[in-house]
Amino acid sequence: MTSSRKPRIAVLFGGRSSEHAVSCVTAAGVLEAIDKDKYDVVPIGISRQGQWSLMSGDPKQWSLRSETLPEVTGSEETITLSAVGITSEADSGQELVATAPDRLPRSLGGIDVVMPLLHGPFGEDGTLQGLLEMANVRYVGAGVLASAVGMDKHFMKVVFESVGLRVGPYEVITDRQWQNDAGACLKRANQLSFPVFVKPARAGSSMGISRVTTAEGLRAAIELARELDPKVVVEAGIEGREIEVAVLQGRNGQDPRTSLPGEIDVHDDQHDWYDFEAKYVDGTAAKLSCPADLPSDVSTEVRSLAAEGFDAVGAEGLSRVDFFYTPSGTLIINEINTMPGFTPISMYPQMWAKSGLPYTELIDELIHLALTRKTGLR
Ligand SMILES: Nc1ncnc2c1ncn2[C@@H]1O[C@H](COP(=O)(O)OP(=O)(O)O)[C@@H](O)[C@H]1O
Ligand SMILES: [Mg+2]
Repeated sequence: MTSSRKPRIAVLFGGRSSEHAVSCVTAAGVLEAIDKDKYDVVPIGISRQGQWSLMSGDPKQWSLRSETLPEVTGSEETITLSAVGITSEADSGQELVATAPDRLPRSLGGIDVVMPLLHGPFGEDGTLQGLLEMANVRYVGAGVLASAVGMDKHFMKVVFESVGLRVGPYEVITDRQWQNDAGACLKRANQLSFPVFVKPARAGSSMGISRVTTAEGLRAAIELARELDPKVVVEAGIEGREIEVAVLQGRNGQDPRTSLPGEIDVHDDQHDWYDFEAKYVDGTAAKLSCPADLPSDVSTEVRSLAAEGFDAVGAEGLSRVDFFYTPSGTLIINEINTMPGFTPISMYPQMWAKSGLPYTELIDELIHLALTRKTGLR
């Protein structure tokens, strides 16, 4: 990157996962708010099939306005990023090339930072991060391993437990175990106290998750989760308030920064947990508040546990770390999201806004962190 031009930021959104539309809505927020005087923005949509195309930068096209969820459809021209590796020490950013049948390849110029605003597999799980590492392009957020661990509700618990963070009781059902002996899997799951939550190991936005109250409902819930992921996690239901903390990597090797904790309250007549509808469809089902009404020592503790969770998986850039706060006063870690929902009204930006870092400045900070972080081992 030369100092004579603005950094070029490729905003990647859509993608192959079930959270495609959520990603588009996040992109709408970022495209609207990003400082265009400071950055040259290149919006790139990824279709559900995985094709990359140059998109309209008009945020309205990607926002959640009507009943139809936004969707990136394929186009004639495909964008590629070549994995040529490092060509010189100072080199950062590779050229994007657009190709179309019967046409000469067209250069879209170099990219300094990619913002992978993608949720779920093939975006948030380390696969895309691996591609960017191979191509030697700097990017916002967690690296390969942290993304992969943070995506996987099984391995994230293994890592959290290893540093002494408290996780709830759970069982993992792999594809092989289910195929070979579903009865034994059901028996294991049955030993957890009901209600249980049955989840695809690597999904998000509550997709494929069921709250199951009796043993009879387990098999169908596992089959449903398996539609999204052959690996399933069954967890004992935890009674407690849902408390979240936004974590931002520190500058210049400093400790991670944590926001004031937020709370999600979804307990109404229609919803008893934070399902997809409560998250995105029924605007009144969930009450988000920040700061959460917590005693100050609990607030301090949850922030410190969130930073520990961030460091435990080796996250970079940003993460939202989610907890249950039980009636007996215990904080149980539920999950880490290395690319949390990022629309202006999503929890992560809201918690930072309430903590003194407004949305546009937050985007700026994430780009700054990405620009100052080399690719490769660091
Ligand atoms: N073990 C659990 N006990 C109680 N509620 C749970 C449990 N696991 C999940 N939930 C509920 O389901 C929601 C979605 O689960 P989560 O693990 O956060 O998946 P996602 O990655 O899709 O957000 C949570 O926000 C919470 O409301
Ligand atoms: Mg969650």
